[in-house]
Amino acid sequence: PAQSMEELVSLCKRRGFIFQGSEIYGGLQGFYDYGPLGVELKNNIKAAWWRSNVYERDDMEGLDASIIMHRLVLRHSGHEATFSDPMVDNKKNNKRYRLDHLVKDQKADVMARVTELMGQSAENFPALVAALNANPAQASTALREAGVRDPFSGEVGEWTEPKPFNMMFKTTIGPVADEDSYGYLRPETAQGIFTNFKNVVDSTSRRLPFGIAQIGKAFRNEITPRNFIFRVRELEQMEIEFFCVPGTDEQWHEHWLEKRLSWWEAQGVPRSKIEILDVPKEDLAHYSKRTYDLMYDYPTLGHEEIEGIANRSDYDLGSHTKAQGELGLVAKVEENADSVAKLTIPHPDTNKPVVPFVIEPSAGVDRAMLAVLSEAFTKETLENGSERIVLKLRPHLAPIKVAVIPLARNREEITSVARAIKGELQGLGLGRVLYEDSGNIGKAYRRHDEVGTPYCVTVDFDTVGKGEDPVLTDTVTVRDRDTLAQERVKISELSSWIQAKLR
Ligand code: GAP
Repeated sequence: PAQSMEELVSLCKRRGFIFQGSEIYGGLQGFYDYGPLGVELKNNIKAAWWRSNVYERDDMEGLDASIIMHRLVLRHSGHEATFSDPMVDNKKNNKRYRLDHLVKDQKADVMARVTELMGQSAENFPALVAALNANPAQASTALREAGVRDPFSGEVGEWTEPKPFNMMFKTTIGPVADEDSYGYLRPETAQGIFTNFKNVVDSTSRRLPFGIAQIGKAFRNEITPRNFIFRVRELEQMEIEFFCVPGTDEQWHEHWLEKRLSWWEAQGVPRSKIEILDVPKEDLAHYSKRTYDLMYDYPTLGHEEIEGIANRSDYDLGSHTKAQGELGLVAKVEENADSVAKLTIPHPDTNKPVVPFVIEPSAGVDRAMLAVLSEAFTKETLENGSERIVLKLRPHLAPIKVAVIPLARNREEITSVARAIKGELQGLGLGRVLYEDSGNIGKAYRRHDEVGTPYCVTVDFDTVGKGEDPVLTDTVTVRDRDTLAQERVKISELSSWIQAKLR
C-alpha cells in the first residue's frame, strides 16, 4: 500500500487519474477533474457496486434522480435547519475555519479555558465543540485566552464567535430571481430516493423489505476542503436506502454492515484496514438512530470515514409524508403541511399502511478511489536492483484491461496484426483495451505497471513469421503485471486465455 498521500497525488497527476479543477485559471479549491484513467477506474468502481447491490440481489431497484431539488425537499429533510457546521473567523486575516478543525490540535488548552469560563468540563472532544457552539460569546473568549493559533499564519488569532454555516449550494431556477425561485444542489443523493419512494413502490409493486440504490453527485460547500479528493465540495455517493418493517431495522443494520465490509474486501480494501466506529450519540446526524462509520486507514490521514451505515428510522419518510399525525411515527419530525403524498406501504403481515424504517449504507466514490488506489499502490525492488511502481488493482477495477503493443510501429505486417488483436479483445466486453505504440517497449511496460494494466500483449517479428524461430509464428508474448512472467500464447487462443484470466 501507499506510504503517504504525496506519492498517490503525484502518481494520479503524472499518469492522468486526477487533476485539480479549473487548473489553468489557478484552480478551484475542493473540485477535482478525473482524467483518462481516473474516469475508467471510477466507472469500474461504480459498476462493481451496482452489480453487487442491484443485479446480484432480488430486493433492490435502481434510481437516478435529479441533482437540483425543490427547496421544500431540503427544508423538510431537516437540511436547511441542521446541515451546518459552526465556524469562526480570524479577524486578523479574515480566514475562516471550522470550529472543530481549529480546536482539534489545541484541545487541552481550550478545554481548560472552557472549564473555567463555563464552570463545567466537557467529557470528550465532541462535547467540547458542542459546548463552544452553545455559548458563542464565551467560546470566542476561550479561544482567545487559550491562545489558539491560526493554522495558516501560525500566529495566535483574534477569534469571532462561532456561527453556523449552512453547507448547501443554493441556485436560482428560471429567469426571475425572486424569493421562491431558488433550489438546492442536493447535499446527499438520499433525498431523491425518499421523494420517489411512492413512485417506485407504485411502479414496481415492491413489498417490504426492499431497497433503492442510487449513484450520483452531491454538493457540499465544505469550509475547509482538503486532503486531495478526501474532502471535496463536489462529491459522488453510492447510496442505498433499504426499507424494512419497523422492529427488523437492527437486524438489517447488521446485515448491511457485513455486506459492505465484504464488498470493500472484494475491491482490494481489506477488513484489517477498516475500523468500525459505533458513532457516539452526540455525534449522530439529525436523522440517525444509530450509525456505523467505516474508518479506513488512509495514508498520512490515518483512520477516516469511507462509508457511513445509518439507521435513519422512519425520520425521512415521516418528515416528507402528509398526514403525519395518523401514522404513529417513532422519529421526532417537524410538521409538514406541504407534501401531497402519503409515504406508506402495506405492512407485510397486516396489510395496514406503515412508514418503513430505513437502513442506509452510504459510500463516497471519491474516498473509494483513494482507498482502492492506496491499497493497490506497490513499490518493488526487482531482481536486477531497479525499482518499479505497480498498481496491483483487482482486474475488474483496472482502467485498461489489456495493452496491445506492436514491437515496431512502422512495420505494416506487425501493426496490422496488433490492430486486429486489439479489435478482437475489445469485442469481448471486458472494458478498455488499448492499442499502444507510443514509445519503446520498456517504457510501455513501466507505464502499464503504474496504471495497473493486468496484461500487455506484444506483437513482434516472430509473430509474423519474420523472426528466428518459426515455431513462434502466430503467437504473441503476454506479460503479467504482478509476476512479470512472459508467456507465448497462440493468437487463436488469446481471447479465451485473457477471458479466463480476467474473469
Ligand atoms: N446520506 C448519508 C450521508 O450523506 P455522510 O456521512 O454525510 O452521509 C456519506 O456521507 C459518505 O459520503 C461519506 O462516508 C463519504 O464517503 C462521502 N462524503 C461525504 N462528504 C464528503 C466530502 N466532502 N468529500 C468526499 N466525500 C464525502
